[in-house]
Amino acid sequence: MAIRTVSLAVLLPYCIIALPNGPLVDHNPEVCTSMSPGDHHPANMATGPAPYIIVVSNDTYTAGQPIQLTVRAANQGVTFACFFVQARSQLGSAQTDALGTFSNDPQGSQAFACTSPAGAWSHNNKNAKREITATWMPPSDDQGSIAFQATIVRGPASVYWEGVKSQSLAYSAAPSLVSSSIFLLTFAVFWAMMA
Ligand SMILES: *[C@@H]1O[C@H](CO)[C@@H](O)[C@H](O)[C@H]1NC(C)=O
Repeated sequence: MAIRTVSLAVLLPYCIIALPNGPLVDHNPEVCTSMSPGDHHPANMATGPAPYIIVVSNDTYTAGQPIQLTVRAANQGVTFACFFVQARSQLGSAQTDALGTFSNDPQGSQAFACTSPAGAWSHNNKNAKREITATWMPPSDDQGSIAFQATIVRGPASVYWEGVKSQSLAYSAAPSLVSSSIFLLTFAVFWAMMA
């Protein structure tokens, strides 16, 4: 196992995350936690602000209500080849569980298992991309404030940025059926009395 990992690392011209078919999470499950190719390619890590942003369709999340998220090049003439996104709780810095599930992953991308099925989203080809959008379904319970976190590789050279984050999304409970019904009932009784 160890020998296999080492030989892969030596043979790869690019970082793990920049592989054409996505991160090798089957052979390197630690990539799900670290979201980093840096163990093998520390010299390729970019310094300075990333020329990419992650845009979300809402600033709260509610069980059962899908969120659209977009990874986008922020500057003219910039593209990305590879990316790796997870939603993580922002309660403390050591939260590495991938929350929720990705779907509607368009061509050039794929959802796959990290912690949970479809808990991660990445490229599956190395074509230059300016922006790409998928749907994310929140977890069924309150995970505190969450944010999308990405590692993004500018191609064709494997310069990469880690920890590119969306704004934080606060949890918003769905209005419960019981309390809405009680409200409507009270309202109806009130109007009946006024009439
Ligand atoms: C978006 O935010 C609004 C207001 O905070 C909320 O009522 C709505 O349910 C949210 N939509 C989704 C899809 O989470």
